[in-house]
Formats: sequence, structure tokens, C-alpha cells
Amino acid sequence: MKEAGLTAKFEVEKLKFRHSVFKDEAKLDINYIPNRLPHREKEHRLIMEFFSFLLQFPEKMAQRVIVTGDIGTGKTALCQRFGADMTLEANKRRVKLRYVHVNCREYRGKLSLILQHAVNVLLPTFPKRGFSSEEILGTLLQNLDEENAHMILALDEFDSLIENEGADAVYNLTRLQEMRVGKPQRISLVCIMRDLESMKSLDDSARSTLQRNVIRLEKYGKDQLVDILSERVQMAFEPATIPEDVVFLTADLARDESGNARFAIELLWRAGKYADAEDHGTVTPECVRKAVSSIIPTLQKSEVDSLGLHEKLFLLGAAQVFKDSEKAYASLAEIEEAYAVACEEFDEPPNSHTQLWKYVQMLSGLGILKTEVSGAGQRGRSTLVYLPAVSAEELERALRASLGRGGR
Ligand SMILES: Nc1ncnc2c1ncn2[C@@H]1O[C@H](COP(=O)(O)OP(=O)(O)OP(=O)(O)O)[C@@H](O)[C@H]1O
Ligand SMILES: [Mg+2]
Repeated sequence: MKEAGLTAKFEVEKLKFRHSVFKDEAKLDINYIPNRLPHREKEHRLIMEFFSFLLQFPEKMAQRVIVTGDIGTGKTALCQRFGADMTLEANKRRVKLRYVHVNCREYRGKLSLILQHAVNVLLPTFPKRGFSSEEILGTLLQNLDEENAHMILALDEFDSLIENEGADAVYNLTRLQEMRVGKPQRISLVCIMRDLESMKSLDDSARSTLQRNVIRLEKYGKDQLVDILSERVQMAFEPATIPEDVVFLTADLARDESGNARFAIELLWRAGKYADAEDHGTVTPECVRKAVSSIIPTLQKSEVDSLGLHEKLFLLGAAQVFKDSEKAYASLAEIEEAYAVACEEFDEPPNSHTQLWKYVQMLSGLGILKTEVSGAGQRGRSTLVYLPAVSAEELERALRASLGRGGR
């Protein structure tokens, strides 16, 4: 009994002294908006430029801007950053400006609920139900008039509003100002959406007033993701807990997932969790691979079973190399050596080098292995291999099971 107590105490002490790889996990939170958005400087300047007039003569102008781009390209982050920076600028100039960011999907694309949220920012006591969109809009405008203020309303996931309310509601929103002839302009719109397809359902004039200013965010490439990740690593992780290779591997995996920065950041966070759970003190490439196989459906058993004997042995060699290595990438020569060892273990004469190339191509076609031609410099120019979606340990287990099942 006493012993159990002591063990428990020891465990608690161990927990207390265990060093986490994280310095500030909140910096990896999905809602955290960094001060700087690497590789979105141009777009940030552009959106600030679109609204610069508003800082001088807010009542003379209502702006409409569309921000579009694929999943995880930084649309929400860019607009939130813009909103905060714009508000700061306005405060400096004593211009009354409110930036309100609403996710339309969270409000099921219902205009009345979206406007309700906007009005509640100004008037927290405004009743939560019982008013139509027109009435809420009237109150919103009246209040902005009284305060002599301007609102930039950012409608995130705007397509859900179009889908739910149809063209009329959007038409009314875009015509807001024209219905108030001769009165000051009070509401500007930033419409955020992944693709512009849903705009097609709008009539020509609503579309043309909206589509005048479109900011398109292109997908991130690997180098850009490396920069984004490196900046987050400094904020969120203890020094020297993330090797360079881990950043490269994470960027490669996220680039393969359509250049999605959210995926990259989440992957790194999960990899950190695996590192802490296993008490590594640093995040290893295997932590990243475990993280990725926990997010993306991992290797199918049938996939392994359907491989030929030497493909399995080659892959076993690769798994062996990655399992024991701190590096995320391995040269073909390294894997070839490990393949020879695997052949020996299973009493098979190894196949020729040219044959191995075919395995690499075949396995990369299946998405089990990936190749990357390294840039000049640090690693010289050569073909490197990495495991994109499965932990080396898991892969080895699956291969050994298959080889042992008479899959040879
Ligand atoms: N250039 C960047 N610099 C730093 N962090 C970035 C950058 N771009 C995106 N991020 C981060 O990546 C994550 C995803 O970005 P964001 O949510 O803005 O994408 P999105 O385009 O709105 O995606 P969705 O279409 O799914 O809504 C966020 O955590 C964001 O902070
Ligand atoms: Mg978004």
C-alpha cells in the first residue's frame, strides 16, 4: 500500500518535472491571429488600400471587397488582421470605426441572426429575437448614425448566406446605401468565401457591385509553409525542440494537403503532443508521422497486402530507416541498404537498383512513399524519400504481419 502511494507520488513528481516541448500552446490555437502573416503582406496592403479612403471620409464611402481562396489559405486570418489594424488606424485618427467579423455558417446562413450579432456588438441589450432582418438593419443604421460611426461587416463563409437566403437578401445588403440617398454611408462589406461559384446565383448588378474588388489568396507552396511554420515554432515551442527537418516534413505534408496552413499548424501541434506523451523532449519526424496518421485515414491493410514481395521488402527497409532515424528524409541509397538487410532476413536475393526505382515510383503512386528532389545547398541535389501518411512503426508492423501471413 505504502509502495503504491510512493509510486503515485513519484509519477506526480515526474509529471511536474517533465519538460514539455511547448512554450505557449495558445499560439497554435485555431483562433490565434498572429501580428504578422508571412506571404500575405501584399494582400494585406491591398485590402488596407481599398479601405484607406474610409479613414479620411468615412461617411462618404461604403466599400465592398471579396476575399477568396482555397481552404487554409489565410482568408479569415487576413481579414481579422486587417480588421484589427484598421481599427487601430481609425482610433489614431479619431474616426469611429467598428470591425465586426461574423461567420455566416455559424448562424446557419440566416441574415437576421447575422445582423443580430452585428447589432449586439453596438447594443448588447438589443433583444435577441422577434425582429426581422429589415428591422434589425434599421436599428443598426440608426445607431451608427447617432454615433456617427462606420461599420466594416466581414461576412465569413459568405456562400452559406447566399445558399440560405438566396439572391434577394444579398441584393438588399449590397443596395443598402442606395436606399439611403443623400445620407452618410455607414456599412462596408468584406465577403469571404472559398470559391466564387455561388456568386453565379446572384443577378448581374449585385454581382458586379460585389466583384469589383476581389482579393484572391493563392495556395501556399512548400517554402511559404516553411516560413509560416518557422514563425509559429518560435512563438509556441521551447527553443531547440523542433529540428529543421520536422518543419520541412510538416510543410511537405501540408503542401500535399492542398497547401493548407491550418493543416500544417495543427499537425505540428499534434506532433508536439505525441512528443510530450512519449517524453521525448524534442519533436521527431516519427511524431509528425504519427500525428498525420491520426488525422488522415491511415494505410489500409489491404493496400499492404496487395503489394508484391519485393515492394514489401523495400518498404520494410524504408520503415526500418525512418524508425531509427531522427531525420525525416532518407536517400535512396540508405533505403537500398536497409532493403538488402530485409531481403537477407526473409531469405530473398535482392533485386537490382533499376528495379528499386520502379518500386519507389509505384509506392509513391499509391501515396505510401513520397519523393522530393532536394534543393542545391544543404543536402546537395539528390532524390530523397519520406513517409507521408503513416508512422514508420505502424508501417513496419503492417508489413511484418503481411509478410508473416504468407504474403511472400
Ligand atoms: N500567412 C500566414 N501566416 C501565418 N499564419 C497563417 C497564414 N495563413 C494562414 N495562417 C494560419 O493558418 C490557419 C488557417 O488560416 P485561415 O483560418 O485564415 O484559413 P481560411 O482561408 O480562412 O480557411 P477556410 O477556407 O477553411 O475558412 C490559421 O491558424 C491561420 O492563423
Ligand atoms: Mg476561414
